[in-house]
Amino acid sequence: MFDLSGKVAVVTGGSGGAGRAIANGLALYGADIVVTSRTLSTLEETAAEVEKAGRKALPISCDVADADSVNQMVKKTLDEFGKIDILVTCAGIALRHPAEDMPIEEFEKVMDVNVKGTLLCCQAVAKDMIKREQGGKIITVGSIRGLQGHPAGYSGYGTSKGAVHMLTKQLATEWAKFKIRVNSIAPCIFYTPLTEPILNDPEMYKIFMQRIPLGRPAEPEDLVGAVVYLGSDASDMVTGVILYIDGGTSAW
Ligand SMILES: NC(=O)c1ccc[n+]([C@@H]2O[C@H](COP(=O)([O-])OP(=O)(O)OC[C@H]3O[C@@H](n4cnc5c(N)ncnc54)[C@H](O)[C@@H]3O)[C@@H](O)[C@H]2O)c1
Repeated sequence: MFDLSGKVAVVTGGSGGAGRAIANGLALYGADIVVTSRTLSTLEETAAEVEKAGRKALPISCDVADADSVNQMVKKTLDEFGKIDILVTCAGIALRHPAEDMPIEEFEKVMDVNVKGTLLCCQAVAKDMIKREQGGKIITVGSIRGLQGHPAGYSGYGTSKGAVHMLTKQLATEWAKFKIRVNSIAPCIFYTPLTEPILNDPEMYKIFMQRIPLGRPAEPEDLVGAVVYLGSDASDMVTGVILYIDGGTSAW
């Protein structure tokens, strides 16, 4: 049920903490992987790990906020593999400021990458899925910050992730007729270079951990099981779900 042999998966943000773990996880379950990020050289390690798992890896440079770049990435993928079965939209940025001082250019940048970037990738991949009439699996990456406010300056990021959650439900509703399942994983804070400043600050660590019943941050590897499930036949009756990987945060 969880076997991904013969499947082709595109993972955007494939050089990041989450993207790398997810690309590896999907490869271990049998999928060939297209990893994308803006800078090609940052994808080398992920691609090498995928190949070590015995799968094909194709690194492609792509700015998810740029429609032409996204369309080219999908074209290159189709030229090489002929199809896309799974899309994971991991590319994302977080710019935090107190709400009263949130620079509008930064707000727009976050919305551009996290919301517009997610929609552009979903659109470009879904067009091929619709044409092939074989359905497909799309997994967006939301966040617990898309559900709950937080005092640490998330007016841009949290708003963008709330939009990703709603976009996921909307796409699931519209594309069910094409057998395209669209779900989201919504993690709590996990260890990446991006979150090191927060997790290495004892005061901030305490504030963040107080909200997580399991009492620890996630690890990028904690996301893999959910993505394999949502990318495989095991989740064929599941669409429009926001799956929180949050140590129980959303239960409070
Ligand atoms: N780290 C956390 O605690 C946390 C928690 C919840 C959700 N998330 C989400 O998980 C996803 C991955 O985050 P991460 O922690 O691995 O971050 P990361 O910074 O390690 O990775 C982000 C990736 O996105 C890519 N990226 C950024 N802007 C891009 C653009 N315009 N075009 C293409 N690629 C671009 C980067 O190159 C990188 O590969 C993000 O969507 C993030 O919002 C992270």
